[in-house]
Amino acid sequence: MPTRREVITLGTAALVAASLPHRGEPLHAQSQAAPAGPFTLPPLPYPADALEPHIDAQTMTIHHGRHHQAYVNNLNAAIAKAPSLNGKTIEAILAGLDAVPEAVRTTVRNNGGGHANHSLFWPSLKKGGGAMSETLSKAVASAFGSDAKLKESLTSAAMGVFGSGWAWLSVGADGRLLVESTPNQDSPIMRGHTPLVGIDVWEHAYYLKYQNRRREYVDAILQVIDWTVVGDRLAAAKK
Ligand SMILES: [Fe+2]
Repeated sequence: MPTRREVITLGTAALVAASLPHRGEPLHAQSQAAPAGPFTLPPLPYPADALEPHIDAQTMTIHHGRHHQAYVNNLNAAIAKAPSLNGKTIEAILAGLDAVPEAVRTTVRNNGGGHANHSLFWPSLKKGGGAMSETLSKAVASAFGSDAKLKESLTSAAMGVFGSGWAWLSVGADGRLLVESTPNQDSPIMRGHTPLVGIDVWEHAYYLKYQNRRREYVDAILQVIDWTVVGDRLAAAKK
């Protein structure tokens, strides 16, 4: 969470952008009293400025400390109204949304998805990126032809999202890699897929630095994806 001083020193543009209304993301979420758990905001695994110049520190601070925190708060508030969900992992909840009480299902879908998606996002980024393992490289070559073709496919999926959503490299139910996109905060988990890495194309992920230039942002994100982490996730998915 930014300190009061940090909030005060944010520019007007930042405050306006940070409060842009998005579906599933109520304004003033931070002012609501939220239960402390069961879900918590994972700390950023690097300083907020670690991915400069690709992702600026102010965007990182607001994106993690406010947007992701709001998903956690809203998810916890929904869980408090649905005790049957207590003790379940977020992955289990998203894989079985039909079992979520209808009164909170949409809230859990949007905010549980937001929490899961962002929890995958932060650790999959690293200054300078990271190399693909041999296993990942072979799987990518088999599914897409080459690393370059995979990146083209991810870029195309990210650019094709109308409004807010994500582009993903996932493992499908048949065990093969695929590129897909999801609207809003939906997760590939909801389709029975295992997400390996996602590109967040909500405007809150890039608007301060890139404004409407989504393509530049997507190109920048592809510079900082840690393919080593992606390879580790593929290995875990295969087990
Ligand atoms: Fe986001």
